[in-house]
Amino acid sequence: MLVLGIETSCDETGIALYDGINGIQAHCVYSQVEIHAAYGGVVPELASREHVRKTLSLIKQTLAEASIDIQDLDGIAYTAGPGLVGALLVGSSVARSLAFALDIPAFGVHHMEGHLLSPLLDDNPPSMPFLALLVSGGHTMLVDVRAHGDYHILGESLDDAAGEAFDKVAKMLGLGYPGGPAVEQLARSGRSGRFRFPRPMTNRPGLDFSFSGLKTFTLNTINEHGDSDAVRADVARAFVEAVVDTFVIKCRRALSQTDHKTLVVSGGVSANLALRDGLSEMARPLGATVHYPKFEFCTDNGAMIAYAGHCRLSAGASEPLGFGVRPRWPLDSLPTPAIGSTG
Ligand code: KG4
Ligand code: ZN
Repeated sequence: MLVLGIETSCDETGIALYDGINGIQAHCVYSQVEIHAAYGGVVPELASREHVRKTLSLIKQTLAEASIDIQDLDGIAYTAGPGLVGALLVGSSVARSLAFALDIPAFGVHHMEGHLLSPLLDDNPPSMPFLALLVSGGHTMLVDVRAHGDYHILGESLDDAAGEAFDKVAKMLGLGYPGGPAVEQLARSGRSGRFRFPRPMTNRPGLDFSFSGLKTFTLNTINEHGDSDAVRADVARAFVEAVVDTFVIKCRRALSQTDHKTLVVSGGVSANLALRDGLSEMARPLGATVHYPKFEFCTDNGAMIAYAGHCRLSAGASEPLGFGVRPRWPLDSLPTPAIGSTG
């Protein structure tokens, strides 16, 4: 089965083709980062307009790259939520209209299920059940993944998502948007140990997260010590170390609670090398393995949506013709598809 994936939930237009036998055939991402950077964050109306401008031409480009005729598509997957409502509506309208014209099914995918499944696109994919740490700009979650679609949220952020905290700290440090990669880079030149930031909610039981206090602590440290280049680098270092330690502590706890031996980490922040190092070091003595998406599939992309859609469409999932998007959508409310079919 050949599925076209369309991702338009935020500030990336992602398009991909996934084939049940040969995997990803082609994918491309148009990032709107430069447009939003001038405003220091995503401007929803501008995001929608850019998706309108780009979605169809990217679909044509992706089909051409894979030398696939549009008539050969068997289904279309689009991100139906969570995300910005105007942005979501662009992808869903294009997907639904194309599917109607081609007389093939379309299916609205949960964006976080896309992230959750993205490591399965790897050459050496993990198998379920596993523990998933989802760390993106909008969500931070620990999920007990018992089977495809059988997701139990063990913990989540009570306030800011991890990526959001990176973006806000980047702003405090005078770095551009999006902040994650810039903070990561600055932290590399900082000294470890000059500042010690709190590891929020780690000294009490439970698997929830909170990053807003860490953000305030960062601001207070900058205000107290000035913002020389050396202070900024040391602050970035202390912030990254605190975030990594927090995830290491919570993932160790969640692995022990669930008895899983496989940890899957995905979403934009999973591109962070300090986080990858910290989690691998934690997992080694436990005999657990850690899986990440390929770097190109850490941040938003169409491949994860094409893949998640393929899993559901090939298992027979269908939707009525009328449709809506779901800007807010709990991950643990998804149905479990009957898995086993391929093609
Ligand atoms: O998954 P994603 O592309 O979008 C959402 O679904 O939200 O994640 C984007 C987030 C941004 O907050 C960005 O700053 C963060 O991921 N990010 C990183 C890194 N690369 C992207 N955070 C830390 N280190 C990175 N290398
Ligand atoms: Zn995302």
